Amino acid sequence: MEENLLHIKNDVVSLVMDAESLTELNQIYIEFLGRSGILTKELKKLKSVPEEKRPEVGKLANEIKNTIETVISDKKKSLKINKHAERVEKLDITKPGIKPAKGSLHLVTQAIKEISQVFESIGFTRVRYPEVEWDWYAFEALNFPEDHPARDDWETFFIDEKPSEKYGPMILTPHTSSGQVREMINVAKSTHKGQSPSIRMLNLAKCYRRQSDVSHTEMFHQFEGLVVDENITIGHLKGVLEYFVKSFFGSERTSRIRPYQFQFTEPSFEVDISCGICKGKGCKLCKEGWLELGGAGMVHPNVLKAGGIDPEKYTGFAFGWGVERVLMMKEGMNLPDLRLIYSNRIEFLKQF
Ligand code: PHE
Repeated sequence: MEENLLHIKNDVVSLVMDAESLTELNQIYIEFLGRSGILTKELKKLKSVPEEKRPEVGKLANEIKNTIETVISDKKKSLKINKHAERVEKLDITKPGIKPAKGSLHLVTQAIKEISQVFESIGFTRVRYPEVEWDWYAFEALNFPEDHPARDDWETFFIDEKPSEKYGPMILTPHTSSGQVREMINVAKSTHKGQSPSIRMLNLAKCYRRQSDVSHTEMFHQFEGLVVDENITIGHLKGVLEYFVKSFFGSERTSRIRPYQFQFTEPSFEVDISCGICKGKGCKLCKEGWLELGGAGMVHPNVLKAGGIDPEKYTGFAFGWGVERVLMMKEGMNLPDLRLIYSNRIEFLKQF
């Protein structure tokens, strides 16, 4: 048995010396020291060695086992060091580096910047109003009757807070129109007596409605324009719409207004933009050459009154559209599901 053990030791040592990889070393280990390894099997024979010789053979067996383990682990270490050295040697600092991945702004952020720039270039100022709003600013002051469906919890998110005696329930801003009266009150406050309350507002903000499907996300963005001054007419509204459409969508596009109904504007309109695919001729994508952009109108006298502005003296127009919708239309994107925009799927977002 001693002879066998010595043979095994010699075999292992020469195998380990020739080994060139960690995998090979692991194989050697299993082959000799594994559960049915050559050395393991040999050690089992110890039981049959005559009792008086057993301590001596046992000692040798142990030494050999330890030696084998040490040889394997030493070789492993030296292989690792060599590998590292090889890598250092191979490093060619004159090679061009690997470019780090470059991030970009989210497509909605890009659209928000672009929309703001268009309106700022014709004198609008971007303002911000609360995301958590009172019912009064969102509905009451905008001339909504008390039983209007948008006021119940079907479309609007209510905050679990005690309603205000003055402003009613607390809600998540359902549309940027809630900024209209806030802006009028602010401007009226800072206007000196005798001066006109002159408003050129762009309220671009997050809005929330209880609707989530392929064409709606519960959180979305709207941008609201409001202009109030002396002698403001539908002509001014048309001019601004046309300016926006041409700057944002391209000079070959045009807009039109159709009669519509909103509580807070009179008259009210739906704004359409000529289809970019068929150039207004009519195709599968549009309605006879036109695509719907969103709502607009002349500010209702009751709304001006709620904002502390004299409707006998001043008039105004307002419009409010969805950022995501306008963005889709610009890109000619036919998204199967609008919720993709907020899904954080990198493959989708990388395209923009
Ligand atoms: N607030 C309206 C909506 O969310 C849009 C609108 C804004 C209409 C301003 C007219 C004037 O649908």
